[in-house]
Amino acid sequence: MSHRPPSPLTAISAALLAMSRHLEMRDVLKTIVASARELLDAEYAALGVPDDHGGFAQFVVDGVSDEQWKAIGPLPRQHGILAAMLHEAKPQRLADVRQDPRFEGWPDAHPDMSDFLGLPIQDGDETIGALFLANKRCPRPAGGCGFTQEDEELLGILAQHAAIALTNARLYERSRELTIAEERSRLAHELHDAVSQKLFSLRLTAQAAAALVDRDPVRAKGELQQVAALAGEAVDELRAAVVELRPAALDEDGLVATLRTQIQVLDRAHSARVTFESAGVRALPAAQEEAMLRVSQEALHNALRHSGARRVTVTLAREASATVLRITDDGRGFDTHAIRRAGRHLGLVSMRHRAGGVGGRLTVDSEPGKGTTVQMEVPCG
Ligand SMILES: Nc1ncnc2c1ncn2[C@@H]1O[C@H](COP(=O)(O)OP(=O)(O)OP(=O)(O)O)[C@@H](O)[C@H]1O
Ligand SMILES: [Mg+2]
Repeated sequence: MSHRPPSPLTAISAALLAMSRHLEMRDVLKTIVASARELLDAEYAALGVPDDHGGFAQFVVDGVSDEQWKAIGPLPRQHGILAAMLHEAKPQRLADVRQDPRFEGWPDAHPDMSDFLGLPIQDGDETIGALFLANKRCPRPAGGCGFTQEDEELLGILAQHAAIALTNARLYERSRELTIAEERSRLAHELHDAVSQKLFSLRLTAQAAAALVDRDPVRAKGELQQVAALAGEAVDELRAAVVELRPAALDEDGLVATLRTQIQVLDRAHSARVTFESAGVRALPAAQEEAMLRVSQEALHNALRHSGARRVTVTLAREASATVLRITDDGRGFDTHAIRRAGRHLGLVSMRHRAGGVGGRLTVDSEPGKGTTVQMEVPCG
């Protein structure tokens, strides 16, 4: 049985299917270039995606070995015939590219090319790439057959689908970047909530130890032990934030005991009196306990850092059909509307986010001169 080349229709359909299998930009480009070269039986094929600085953001070739590619040197710039394809957005079909007045020569290691077919890849009015082929293989060694009108039409179909594939690949990459951005913001919140507060307390305790070391070495020693404990907790929190673990203490001791210990630590580390009371609270779903802990940490941190309060009280209680956490300080208070508009701060946003994330609600009640109450409520299941 004699081997017959596939019909153009079969070949182009295979090429289009191959293109649609890939999502990553570079794989899409490679498939387009390889398909074009095979479909039109050319020695070389390339696809360039221009950047805004006269170069190419992506440049993919087929028919050139890796060694040859390296030897050619830096990527081409947008000049000569490449530039014409991109800027005039017109096909270029040439019997001998070297004879063209726009030809500007190529690097030493560049393969020699004669017949040339290039098409812009367009998305609406925008030229998003150029697809081109060189040296059509001829059935007879006499050579000089060159690319035909039919070749140009076939490549035109490929270029149109390449536009769709490229646009999809761009969208895919954009959505992946967004996912990364979301992950980065989660981590920023996590680090902010867990770690920066610990480090803040740690710094205060270290300062207290330094102030005491000459006068009262015994108390200084106690403070230093506190420094070590806080540093250890910061390390644990950091690890948990990075791998998205719950604070280990919650699993071991539950919310009430964890809050009690942490509040005792804060009470010792700060000059304000910090107290905790709880009433009638049963264990909550893990995610709710974690959210409650994070919210109380941030609210406490804000009270200790911003309010100048003498007293900060935390209460956790079962009320009607909800569990309610309240952090109240007798400090200077603030204008909640102005802060919301300013929008630079992570803490309040993060607290709201955490409460909402477990089906709860956060309210901040504050006024300059009147102290602050942060309240988080989660409905009982
Ligand atoms: N309990 C409070 N008493 C007085 N002012 C407060 C209190 N809580 C928050 N604020 C004010 O609201 C602002 C926003 O708080 P938020 O926690 O969102 O950000 P931040 O604490 O400044 O920074 P971070 O992003 O590190 O938390 C604070 O800068 C402070 O001016
Ligand atoms: Mg804060």
